[in-house]
Amino acid sequence: MTELFAVCATYEVDDGDARGFVLARLDEDGTSRRWPILVTRKANSFHGFENACPHEGTRLDTIPGEFLDRDGTFLTCGKHGARFDLESGQCVTGPCQGKALTPITLLIDDGDVCLIDVALAEEDGMDIEDPNAVPEVLITGD
Ligand code: FES
Repeated sequence: MTELFAVCATYEVDDGDARGFVLARLDEDGTSRRWPILVTRKANSFHGFENACPHEGTRLDTIPGEFLDRDGTFLTCGKHGARFDLESGQCVTGPCQGKALTPITLLIDDGDVCLIDVALAEEDGMDIEDPNAVPEVLITGD
């Protein structure tokens, strides 16, 4: 049976944008490890990649919020500036030119961007990081 895991709602990723998430993935030996991923969007096409630069394996968003080109076409690694196509994950310029981000299969289900058959640790152990997050302000009445 196919298992889906909703990462986010489609409306949470704007056209020409990307969002990073850190999930807890189970390895074959049952140990849990942090699994940073990216979800990118071009029009209504969503793509998933492991958030690990093929150059040195670091997260692309080493400078939070600074990994997307202004025109929404490329992801840029914050460490040495490699640029990756938003849809294919192919490195087009930089020290790992010709290599690509590791793709992750996504499925859109009822407005959610979902992973398919990925073994994750329990959901309440999941740590979702939003590098663009701003502190929430709670406004209450008397
Ligand atoms: S680690 Fe990404 S370009 Fe070097």
